[in-house]
Amino acid sequence: MFDNRYGTGQSTLDGLIRATNVLLAGKTLVVCGYGWCGRGLASRAAGHGAHVVVTEVDPVRALEAAMDGYRVMTLAEAAPQADFIVTVTGDINVIDRHHFELMKDGCIVANSGHFNDEINLAALDDMASGVSRPRPYVEAYRLRDGRTVNVLAQGRLVNLAAAEGHPAAVMDMSFANQALCAEYVARHHAELVPRVYDVPADIDAAIAALKLSSMGIGIDVLSEEQRRYLASWESGTS
Ligand SMILES: NC(=O)c1ccc[n+]([C@@H]2O[C@H](COP(=O)([O-])OP(=O)(O)OC[C@H]3O[C@@H](n4cnc5c(N)ncnc54)[C@H](O)[C@@H]3O)[C@@H](O)[C@H]2O)c1
Repeated sequence: MFDNRYGTGQSTLDGLIRATNVLLAGKTLVVCGYGWCGRGLASRAAGHGAHVVVTEVDPVRALEAAMDGYRVMTLAEAAPQADFIVTVTGDINVIDRHHFELMKDGCIVANSGHFNDEINLAALDDMASGVSRPRPYVEAYRLRDGRTVNVLAQGRLVNLAAAEGHPAAVMDMSFANQALCAEYVARHHAELVPRVYDVPADIDAAIAALKLSSMGIGIDVLSEEQRRYLASWESGTS
């Protein structure tokens, strides 16, 4: 929730901007995948004045994006309108040959999801008559019909390649989580079986409380009356 939405959300835009220095305001930026990373990227791109389009394969996530105010459509529909297309799905070949065929001249594509699998660069290479490097981290593929498709950071994670990854102020929470979970496993290994466990809620709550206090933010505390009221079904139902 924090690392991916706020960390990847910000650092992905940072990577796009550092690599291209293109103004986002008024541009159409397509976010492929509306998970935690996609939500963060979409909201931050909208904050820069971009027209954000979301593509999804999960109907619930797609509906959430639509109700968050973004235009939702297939990537085939979005590709001809896009100035930027950024993948954050964890999936393979999300941007594929038939999408490159639809893109307008100068479209910029980047990945901030899984390794370098999300953009089918082999297909793009096959469609291209030549590749140039107008700026660091930008590869311009000249297609045989005269259009250019710009790929950032060779399709690798643009926030790590062209920017500096997540700021320390979000990684502190991720690392606190990992450290406290390792401690939890060390203390409780006897009663654990080999499977994936959720992070215990009290670890999440303890880290959030620490982070709030480091930010100088105080929150209210439940009174005993409120605690009883929230835990009961007898009052407030008739
Ligand atoms: N760049 C970074 O530093 C960084 C940091 C954290 C996570 N990640 C990576 O980003 C990816 C996304 O992470 P997340 O937490 O948002 O995951 P998530 O599972 O919450 O969201 C991924 C979304 O992509 C959607 N999706 C899958 N295939 C799709 C397709 N073909 N077209 C459109 N949408 C598709 C899924 O339905 C899902 O909603 C993961 O691969 C993760 O490892 C990168």
